[in-house]
This record gives sequence, structure tokens and C-alpha cells, in this order.
Amino acid sequence: MHVADSPRADVAVIGGTGFYSFLADATEHVVETPYGDPSAPIAIGEVAGRRVAFVPRHGAHHDFPPHAIRYRANAWALRAIGVRQVLAPCAVGGLRDTVAPGDLVVPDQLVDRTHRRIGSYVESGAVHLPFADPYCPGVSSALAGADPDVRSGGTMVVVEGPRFSTRAESQHYAAQGWDLINMTGAPEAQLAREMGQCYAPLALVTDMDAGAESGTGVGQEDVFDLFRSNLERLTGILTAAVEALPDPTGCTCATWSDGIELTYEVPGS
Ligand code: ADE
Repeated sequence: MHVADSPRADVAVIGGTGFYSFLADATEHVVETPYGDPSAPIAIGEVAGRRVAFVPRHGAHHDFPPHAIRYRANAWALRAIGVRQVLAPCAVGGLRDTVAPGDLVVPDQLVDRTHRRIGSYVESGAVHLPFADPYCPGVSSALAGADPDVRSGGTMVVVEGPRFSTRAESQHYAAQGWDLINMTGAPEAQLAREMGQCYAPLALVTDMDAGAESGTGVGQEDVFDLFRSNLERLTGILTAAVEALPDPTGCTCATWSDGIELTYEVPGS
């Protein structure tokens, strides 16, 4: 492991579409990993008395489309600097009329429909971590409790992208009972699990997906515009959530690999 200037943080926020900075008075750190560079230098600052790291998953200038995000480098770099709790805001489409653009949701389930991403650090051996409940209960509660507008629960399907779904695909996902659709929630969640981190998403509904709307389908500008106009609100909620985070010591997220011989390096452990 090589961390250029020994930065440290306990908590991280991984910014999504349109969300490229979070911290005031941050310092930036280049963290090298066996998986290449993270999506951007890691910014570190203080929020509510906690050392918080921020990395924009798409890069500082939206350089990386969803399938090319440096998922493995991002999670590894965050763990290397000490991060145990990860808050993951993301843009999502709504699949059913139980949600509407502008809603904020902390989903509790994930369906991974991606197919050309490296979604694991495991390259050899028998390493099968439990993933029945993909998100950390403590981080999820902190996010859900941060504002009365934030709803809890629901299933997020993650598709490969970068194109949006056809109407038929979208209606199929809704017919499964899934609520939200996104392009970046996997393998981010799996990799956090493999790094022993507490991880939960905060999904901002930016559009109704093609099967749930009667217009011309989702456009990229709809997603960017809605995200942009909610940035201040998101920042406030994330700040309150950081303040409310429980002590991660003893959380199940750090113990899923107990009794399993990991065949990859978990930095700092
Ligand atoms: N991210 C935001 N809106 C989306 C949608 N409709 N489909 C996939 N990812 C999205």
C-alpha cells in the first residue's frame, strides 16, 4: 500500500452525477492503489467534528461514465485512509408512481443487472461474503433520520448503461416490484462489503424512467438539472447524517468476513 501523504478520514461521501464537491476547506490527496487511481484525488475535511473524505465517483469533471468508474480503486483508497462508513448519494429513476422526481429514498435492497464491470477484489480462492442485506443498518438509519423528507426502503435495480432503459425494460423492472433504477449502485456496494465498510446509498429521484412516464423517455439533461437544483438540500442532509452516524465498532459490516480467509488485501487491517 502506498498513501502519498498519509491522509486519514473516518467517513466518506461518494458524490454522484452533478455532485463534484462537498467539503469546505478540504485538502486533496493522491492515493495510489493496486487498482489504479481513484476517480479523483480524495478531498478530506471536517464535518460535524468528523474527518470526512469526498470522492466524486464520475471524476471531478464527469470523466467516467457509469461502466468505467474506478469502483475498485475508490473503495480501496477510502479504506486505505481509514474510512469505515460510506454515504453514497446517487441519481435514480423512479419505476413506479410510489415515487416522484425530487424524492429522496434510502433503499434497502439491490438488484445488480450490470454485466461488464469488475465487481470484486476476489481473484482466487473461496471467498463468498454474505450480501442478503446489502446496506449498513446504521448508515441507512443516519441517512433516513437526517430529514423528514427522506424515505426508507425499496429496491434499486442497477443497470449497465450508459444508455437509459427501453420502455419494455423499464416496465419489466417495475413488474418485478422494483422501485428505483440507477447505473452506479453496483459494484460500489459489493466492494464496500469486501472492504468491511458500512455503506448505504441516498437516492435522489431525478426522473420517472421510460416505462413509468408517457413522454419521450428520460434525457440526460433532466437528470443533471434535477440533481443540480437539489445540491444544497442534499449537502444539508448528508451533513446531518454524518453528525448522526453511530459508532461503527461492532457493526455487522465489519464482521461479514469473519472465519473466511480473504485472498485480497484489505488495507489498514
Ligand atoms: N439515473 C438517474 N435516472 C436514471 C434512470 N432513469 N435510469 C438509470 N439510471 C438513472
